[in-house]
Amino acid sequence: TQSEPTKKMTMDEPVESLFSKTASKLVGKPINRVDGSLKVSGQAHYSAEIHLDNKAYGVLVGATIAKGQVENIDSSSLDGIPNIIKVVTDPKHFLRNSQQGGLKKAPKQGATEIFYHGQPIAVVIAETFEAATEGAKALKVIYKDETDQAALNFTKELSNAHAVDEKKGSDKNYVQGDPEQGLADAEVTLDRFYHTPSQNSSAMEPHVTLAHWEEDKLILYTANQMLASCKQQVMDALNLNKDQVQLIAHYVGGGFGSKLGIAPESIAAAIASKELGRPILITMTRPQVMEATVRRSNTRQRIAIGCDKDGVIDTLIHDTVSSNLPGEAFFEPTALSTHYLYRGKNRRVNYEMVDMNQVLSGSMRAPGEAVGMIAVECAMDELASQLDIDPIELRRRNEPEKDPSKDIPFSSRQLIACMEQGAEQFGWSQRNAKPASQLEGDWWIGTGMAAAARGNQLQPSEARATLQIDKSKALGVKAVIETDMTDIGTGSYTVFSQVAADLLGLPIDHIEMKLGDSAFPPAAGSGGSWGAASAGSGVYLACEQLREMIAEKVGLYPDTIQLDNGQIKQVGKHDLTAIEAAKESSQAFADSTIDKISETTGVSFSENVLEEQSESEKYDFDNTESYALADVVAGYDEQKISAKGQIKPGKNGKKYRQSSFGANFAEVAVHKVTGEIRVKRMTGAFAAGRILNHKTATSQCYGGMVFGIGSALMEEVIHDKRDGRLCNHDLAEYHVPVNADVPQLDVILVEEDDPYTNPMHIKGIGETAIAGAAAAIANAVYNAVGVRVYDFPITLDKLL
Ligand code: MOS
Repeated sequence: TQSEPTKKMTMDEPVESLFSKTASKLVGKPINRVDGSLKVSGQAHYSAEIHLDNKAYGVLVGATIAKGQVENIDSSSLDGIPNIIKVVTDPKHFLRNSQQGGLKKAPKQGATEIFYHGQPIAVVIAETFEAATEGAKALKVIYKDETDQAALNFTKELSNAHAVDEKKGSDKNYVQGDPEQGLADAEVTLDRFYHTPSQNSSAMEPHVTLAHWEEDKLILYTANQMLASCKQQVMDALNLNKDQVQLIAHYVGGGFGSKLGIAPESIAAAIASKELGRPILITMTRPQVMEATVRRSNTRQRIAIGCDKDGVIDTLIHDTVSSNLPGEAFFEPTALSTHYLYRGKNRRVNYEMVDMNQVLSGSMRAPGEAVGMIAVECAMDELASQLDIDPIELRRRNEPEKDPSKDIPFSSRQLIACMEQGAEQFGWSQRNAKPASQLEGDWWIGTGMAAAARGNQLQPSEARATLQIDKSKALGVKAVIETDMTDIGTGSYTVFSQVAADLLGLPIDHIEMKLGDSAFPPAAGSGGSWGAASAGSGVYLACEQLREMIAEKVGLYPDTIQLDNGQIKQVGKHDLTAIEAAKESSQAFADSTIDKISETTGVSFSENVLEEQSESEKYDFDNTESYALADVVAGYDEQKISAKGQIKPGKNGKKYRQSSFGANFAEVAVHKVTGEIRVKRMTGAFAAGRILNHKTATSQCYGGMVFGIGSALMEEVIHDKRDGRLCNHDLAEYHVPVNADVPQLDVILVEEDDPYTNPMHIKGIGETAIAGAAAAIANAVYNAVGVRVYDFPITLDKLL
């Protein structure tokens, strides 16, 4: 409700973290996932597994031309197929998926026009999935085929590259100094083009929606990363208000960007369910996921570096062309980290786009850095060889003191520590820098490294925390946390439980973590590696608010209480300075004042507590008593107490460059006859602020490194240049790394604390390890065989 006490925080100043004061038994620890046993025993229900009575099945029908118009959809072609219910088509709504500017827009409303092969144009509804599948295959669609005018060849279309709409992108063009002149004047230059292919997120769970209507309210059990913004997309697409839409995604089997926005099956299921008055389940097949959701765009990137003989960079140019459907604003922001990764007074970042009649492009894991750093970090390696400088040393010489583009400090930056700790663990000093100099049996051996960086973000998020009596719990009380944040396999349930448990002084099994329902307070969702920081701060602040309310209830100063194992007690001295400071400005406790108090004293007061500070006699300054949390909670009406937390990004995001950093190291073997490339081992060292859970964070890094292997050596979405059809639209033909491709991976989490990011001092880690991981492998391949490949993936044919 509106009147719920809410702890608000805007990150305008550095803040202290309560974790340095709490008993902190769980935060940081490598505890197992709290939802692990539910998942492995099949009790965690993913959206496709939700059962609703009277459910019917839908299967999408995709266009079989790359460009043109639908003239007629002949439903009579399904006559005689048993169990078919209806062909539903609503060209106004689900014809074309869109991710304008990344996330914000609903699927584009667009008549009967076809923009790419595979674009959903209808959905066949049947009593069984099998019948719907048969119907979808049999459905006769008459087209006005204009495929001959379609843009299907990127190389050819490059001459039609056009400017991007910077306002709608997640990066901007940038020029500083005189890059072309800088390049012309440089003692040493390197100027290269890199090509990276289209890729698919290939999340294990396909996109799926079970839609049903309760009167005028639409409920979607779906597979989404960000419920609040996806809810808005559904509202926009179907012209519904916020009370008419609920999205539920309790468990999500990966997303990697492909589930940031609403995919076509959601809208199709909603429309069909309305029309038929039944719950409709649409599960995409793997080919449909690959054809009709989103791809990472292919890129052509130019990296040009000008430096002196010692490798000190003066000029850095990063120009990119990526592709998308005509009219789409999203472009691959490859140069996100180029702005601040290395020094140099002359700089240019430039983006262009090519319109292609190919699968919609959008965000895929670490959009920008994942492929942009392939180019930058391969270029740095080549420059190091050219100068005969160790690649780590070259990066060290180009370490900027401040963000060289914005002239603002880094909130924290530990690239050098990551490189050093990674090098130590990997044994980099043993390296033979001379390429093609190490033959072991039939295999050339090589090592390479690359830096990693991924911008840190904070997004507005809310959460509710409730303490309530629960006699089934050992301590007689439990905490229920609610936020619409998702857990896409990353560990949200677990890390937020750790945060709440420590702040409320409860064991982890006394925390009931409720996620994945848009009925809960809105959070930023799982995207951009901001999930733990954003939604987690909402949870943190809600718990902090509860702590203060409880302190007040028992007459203790909020800055002195310790909650541990269901007991509340006073520890240490209350900080009178903070109270006095608060009193002095007692007329107006602006948010910023509260933040300042936090900054200087480590004490953080909720507004309502501060308002009552003048009645300081209310607090017992030397109370040594200990109170049972269950008793305190029992003292409230309804035997429960509830509060909300709300985090907002603030000036810290503008005053400080915030990014996670890291370094990947790889050893590869290349077969001397066949050119087969095997990754033998990798070490990654990453610094991302405080680590909430060493196990889940390490797993995120493994994931990034595995993506790096795929990106370096195998992943490539191939569109047929004749008709735009996907040639490799399943996991048999689109190769992702399997167990046999993934060797020993070692992850080091470099210690870091960043008070500018959020009250937990954490930074995003999910997408850090993928940034540059492929470059480390590419550089190792060069070291092994002396061949530089500029066209990814590095398949064996390119080495022969
Ligand atoms: Mo990430 S590509 O923002 O899911």
